[in-house]
Amino acid sequence: MAAPEASEPASAWVRRFAPLIPSGPVLDLACGKGRHSRYFLKAGRSVTAIDIDLSGVADLLTHPKFEAIAADLESSEPRPLAERRFAGVIVTNYLHRPLFPSILAAVAAGGMLIYETFAAGNERFGRPRNPDFLLQPGELLERVRGRFRVLAYEDLEQTEPYPACFQRIAAVNSLSSAPA
Ligand SMILES: C[S@@+](CC[C@H](N)C(=O)[O-])C[C@H]1O[C@@H](n2cnc3c(N)ncnc32)[C@H](O)[C@@H]1O
Repeated sequence: MAAPEASEPASAWVRRFAPLIPSGPVLDLACGKGRHSRYFLKAGRSVTAIDIDLSGVADLLTHPKFEAIAADLESSEPRPLAERRFAGVIVTNYLHRPLFPSILAAVAAGGMLIYETFAAGNERFGRPRNPDFLLQPGELLERVRGRFRVLAYEDLEQTEPYPACFQRIAAVNSLSSAPA
């Protein structure tokens, strides 16, 4: 079994809210080298990772609690998220706006969405500069409004460990878990 050692540290935002994810599988969307897959595997969680390029998690493919799905999230049919529900959905450093409905639908009732990516203003510091890849002010709040309970939200310009603009949210799909 591969040791889920992290090549890059998990995001501090993800680490902060990870303990609040209820029991159940975790989705690492656009997983890259799998720093968050590794983090949750190390914590004993079952992880599903999706990316167009799974080479960064090749060493995890034999891990008994790891499921990897190679998919083009921006064009593939059928969409890999269809009918899947996760206790936690992690999205970091990735934005493809048409996916938002599928991402929200993938969070089980009572489950948590942890999302962190670059925000408008980042073009002053470097890549990404394309507005398609930069969240607009308040965008993550707007995306979950009326459906999720927001535990924490940030939209800020950071200086450490490098100058960048980030938006982050941790939100619970609590509304749909309420009794009918
Ligand atoms: C900047 S990396 C972020 C990786 C990881 N989430 C992290 O924060 O460490 C963006 C990831 O999105 C993936 N990606 C880009 N376009 C994609 C697509 N159309 N379908 C699936 N994955 C895609 C890339 O392969 C890459 O692994």
